[in-house]
Amino acid sequence: MDSKKLFLAAMNYRHACKLFDGKKIPAEDLEFILEAGRLSPSSFGIEQWKFVVVQNQTLKTEIEKVSWNQPQISTCSDLLVILARKDVRSSDVYTKKQLSRWGLAEDAFKGLMGIYKGWVDGRDDHTIEMWSEKQCYIAAGNMMTAAAFIGIDSCPIEGFEYAKVDALLGVDTSVYQSALVIPFGYRANEQRGKHRLSLSEVVEFKK
Ligand SMILES: Cc1cc2nc3c(=O)[nH]c(=O)nc-3n(C[C@H](O)[C@H](O)[C@H](O)COP(=O)(O)O)c2cc1C
Repeated sequence: MDSKKLFLAAMNYRHACKLFDGKKIPAEDLEFILEAGRLSPSSFGIEQWKFVVVQNQTLKTEIEKVSWNQPQISTCSDLLVILARKDVRSSDVYTKKQLSRWGLAEDAFKGLMGIYKGWVDGRDDHTIEMWSEKQCYIAAGNMMTAAAFIGIDSCPIEGFEYAKVDALLGVDTSVYQSALVIPFGYRANEQRGKHRLSLSEVVEFKK
């Protein structure tokens, strides 16, 4: 199969899997999926995320109870909780560390910091938290596509009580907050048909 067909086959294979069969994902496959997350783009290259992989069955069950009892959570192999970083103001140590990696000359670094301050510092906390969450969603998309590419199923989940999941994971909420939960594993049932608008309905060309 040519590479475009292979890629689209993975896109069609991915679906919001509602029940997993409990089979474990090999460690190297899990690492492949996480690597797709790690290599994802993020605004200013800040990497506003942390990937928590829950493998403990008791913990998965506890998380399921505060996630609308969605059975994907306890039946999956590995439950990924993506945490969004909150310490991304220009004065935060983490931000400075991330922005320093480009090895810019002092003037260029000051210029970058000026742009960053303009983008981030004037916004309220909620907007900044949502900004971090947006970056997490990009990583999430890449990880789910990477998983589908190697025959592994997933389900993006927003239906959970954020504060309760943070508490169960012992998250330091001064630095992070949960953004998205994604169980990974193998489907227990065949996927339902896909429903999508046609390209002509969602694409507009300006020529
Ligand atoms: C951000 C986000 C949150 C979602 N939350 C849930 C969820 O809590 N539970 C669930 O079963 N599906 C959830 N979904 C899955 C969507 O319902 C699903 O992707 C959509 O209906 C299209 O179906 P498909 O992914 O099978 O093609 C979520 C999807 C996204 C992108």
